[in-house]
Amino acid sequence: MTIEIQINRLSNELERLASYSDLPAPALSRVVFTEQDLLARSYVKQLCEEAGLVVRVDPVGNTFARWVGSDAEAPAVATGSHIDAIPNSGRFDGTVGVLGGLEAIRALQRSGFTPRRSLELVIFTSEEPTRFGLGCLGSRLMVGALDEACGTRLRDQEGRTLDEVRAGAGLVGPLSAVRRPTGSYSSFVELHIEQGPILEREQIPIGVVTAIAAPATLRVSLEGEGGHAGGVLMPGRRDALCAAAEIVLGVEAAAKSSGSIDSVATVGVCNVFPGAVNIIPSRVQLEIDVRDTDQARRDAMLHAIMDACQTLSRPRKVSAHVEILNRDAPAACDATVVEALAKACETQHLRFQRMVSRAYHDSLFMARIAPAAMLFIPCRGGVSHRPDEYASPEAIANGALVLAHALASLSQF
Ligand code: GLV
Ligand code: MN
Ligand code: MN
Repeated sequence: MTIEIQINRLSNELERLASYSDLPAPALSRVVFTEQDLLARSYVKQLCEEAGLVVRVDPVGNTFARWVGSDAEAPAVATGSHIDAIPNSGRFDGTVGVLGGLEAIRALQRSGFTPRRSLELVIFTSEEPTRFGLGCLGSRLMVGALDEACGTRLRDQEGRTLDEVRAGAGLVGPLSAVRRPTGSYSSFVELHIEQGPILEREQIPIGVVTAIAAPATLRVSLEGEGGHAGGVLMPGRRDALCAAAEIVLGVEAAAKSSGSIDSVATVGVCNVFPGAVNIIPSRVQLEIDVRDTDQARRDAMLHAIMDACQTLSRPRKVSAHVEILNRDAPAACDATVVEALAKACETQHLRFQRMVSRAYHDSLFMARIAPAAMLFIPCRGGVSHRPDEYASPEAIANGALVLAHALASLSQF
């Protein structure tokens, strides 16, 4: 059985997918359920149909493309990732796992292989938290980490609920129907760019992920008092942005003083109201991303930041309301799937390294209902979530090839 990745075709498809964007290349922005996201979805769906896969879309827009195996009733082997992209990002995050997964399936089809278990490509909805403040929406719902009330609770910046927005995208049906019970899949493998520098630096073509770090997100709403930037004297001010500035530095300090290099914390969102140069900011909303490979240390950092929000804003007579948007456990990858990936690297004579994923992925949640693991490929300079994100065709071909071999062996168990 000869499995060959058609890298030119895959590269062309990645390029075409990157053209669905709200920003000019090389920057990318494809926020969930925007027009460009819907166009990108239909392009990927069309590619799946052209490959003869049976396509199904669930009520949150998770898309499943199945190559039915000889034992159609047996739980399938799944692979996949996401195609939504944060503002001003690059073209490889998520998309390599989707189109690379599709090419792995097509390569197996071309080789004459017949899977016993079905092979299913999954394109998860909104892995990125941009629109609704919560990442991995599709996979959270699939594994029951989020209940259907999120349809009315989660709102975008315009105040539209998830239910309204998905209805606008033509998605109907209760969110409870997204749930897939444990046992739906016999295994799950996600191919992704590393988003870090290790593989490139060590010149190792494949990373086999053994664990995924624990992410958490806070939303902090600060309320002070507005007023005329000329008329209100400094001693009486209750400037919400000044309180926010102290909190931003408090967040940095919490991560730096945790005692571990694995602790990271970032304030990536700062919305200032009303946002005019001659008005004292009366309201500020911060969104804070807090992560660690160790859950207890992550939680300690989270609590330190929550305390800092109160102690730093109180002397300024600014109120701070802190909401935990998510506080997820880390995931351990499944030893059997990890070994299948390691074996696939060995048979292809590709060096690999076992490693931890510091970024989160839909695998963080899929690991709750299926034995799961991930394959990483190097990306230039370890850069990601930036327009200059880049993975070479060779790196992508290596990843898709290992994925194809691993899917083949996992489908025969
Ligand atoms: C995923 O996009 C992450 O922020 O880790
Ligand atoms: Mn991302
Ligand atoms: Mn991603």
